Amino acid sequence: MENKKIAKEEIKELKEDALRYICPHFASNSELAKGAKIFTRGEGCYVYDIEGRRLLDTFATLLTTICGHNRHEIAKAVQEQMSQLEFFPNYVDTFTIPLIKLAKKLAEITPGDLSVSFFVNSGSEACETAIKMARQYHLEKGERQRYKIIGRRYSYHGTTLGGVSATGIPWFREYFEPLLPGFIHVIAPHSYRMGLEPDACGEICLKAMEETIIWEGPKSIAAVILDPIPGSNTGYPLPPDGYLQGVRKLCDKYGILLIFDEVQTGFAKTGKMFACEHWDVAPDIMAIGKGFTGGYIPLAATITTPRIYEAFKKPGSEFRSGSTYGGHTTACAATLANIEIIEKENLVEKAATMGKYLKQELEKLYKYPIVGDIRGLGMLLAVELVADKKTRGYLDPKLNIGSWIRDWCWKNGMILRNNGDILVIAPSLILSKDEADEMLGKINQGISEAMKHFKL
Ligand SMILES: Cc1ncc(COP(=O)(O)O)c(C=O)c1O
Repeated sequence: MENKKIAKEEIKELKEDALRYICPHFASNSELAKGAKIFTRGEGCYVYDIEGRRLLDTFATLLTTICGHNRHEIAKAVQEQMSQLEFFPNYVDTFTIPLIKLAKKLAEITPGDLSVSFFVNSGSEACETAIKMARQYHLEKGERQRYKIIGRRYSYHGTTLGGVSATGIPWFREYFEPLLPGFIHVIAPHSYRMGLEPDACGEICLKAMEETIIWEGPKSIAAVILDPIPGSNTGYPLPPDGYLQGVRKLCDKYGILLIFDEVQTGFAKTGKMFACEHWDVAPDIMAIGKGFTGGYIPLAATITTPRIYEAFKKPGSEFRSGSTYGGHTTACAATLANIEIIEKENLVEKAATMGKYLKQELEKLYKYPIVGDIRGLGMLLAVELVADKKTRGYLDPKLNIGSWIRDWCWKNGMILRNNGDILVIAPSLILSKDEADEMLGKINQGISEAMKHFKL
């Protein structure tokens, strides 16, 4: 498909209207002051802006487009479903065929005993639902006093009040205090930032978690919620071997449910269908979203085990949660098509292989004095820039070097996500070798240009 030519006056008007009529999510006024960026077309790993510029998207359209843009298989599935029955809700006792097929598929591909799905519209809702599920489960089991949720510092679990309460990143929390009662945050392993060997780091964090459980009272705790690999905000610090197994053991020991938030890490990105499979640990409840639908139509889910679900099936009981569009019929059809592509094109294996290549090539960036750490797994990778490799001291935040590199990449035809001085590399899983080399080349050059610009 060709780029549709849009007249200059219309572009100007659209850009003005964007700023006047829309409050963007997590808006940055300093970025908005440079003008709105408007996208009009996508093809594979590339997107086109309204001026017709082609940009390599190395953040997979906010970590969603697993199979890339403009997949005719997904468009066809959507069109067929739309012309049959666009939507009927999953309410009380009503179901649709794509919904049932998708739930069955999830039971097949998710780890452990996970097999009962509750469908929602976003990752935030999926985490929120997981928390509600854990609390109501204990209530049904006669342990109403188990309401506390243990989250982790520097993890992100969404934007709703429940999601923010579970989140451990001050920036998301501070304007909305006081948050929901009963949320506690423990330290999470980050061996680079803690300056510890992974084993020691994992042990310290497990000890801190157990001490917190004992201090709070084990019988007051409903669940531990964690992201097996913390997301792009933290730059994917890997859990040390044994840590997730240790958390599982603690939960079992104290009768606490374990929730994994795989909204960002699920669906092949780490080189397994779900990140927790790298450590062979399965949760009691799992939240999924983002890549689940490949970015085509919003859909997310909270999946649990028959053991947990049984508690809601007692006569006179039911899981008290729901929304109009959760499990939208056409979104389920799109998601089934997305998962079919993941399986047909062996994207799990591809992400593992390409991930190894990307990491090996990124490691060449250690030649720069400001490249402190390169971490992540599969195709979720990050490069952390520092002022001093030895002390791991932070760069002066006023310099905004990470954002400068991001802007340099933008000017040179590439979308790069940065979180301060952490550069995030998380492209679509269909990335070709040539596209990978284009991406690696631009990151390399962007860092090199920054070194010159800032006289580092
Ligand atoms: C780990 C994690 N959990 C939850 C969410 C929230 O998902 P959503 O933005 O779809 O509400 C995100 C989104 O970035 C995420 O990365």
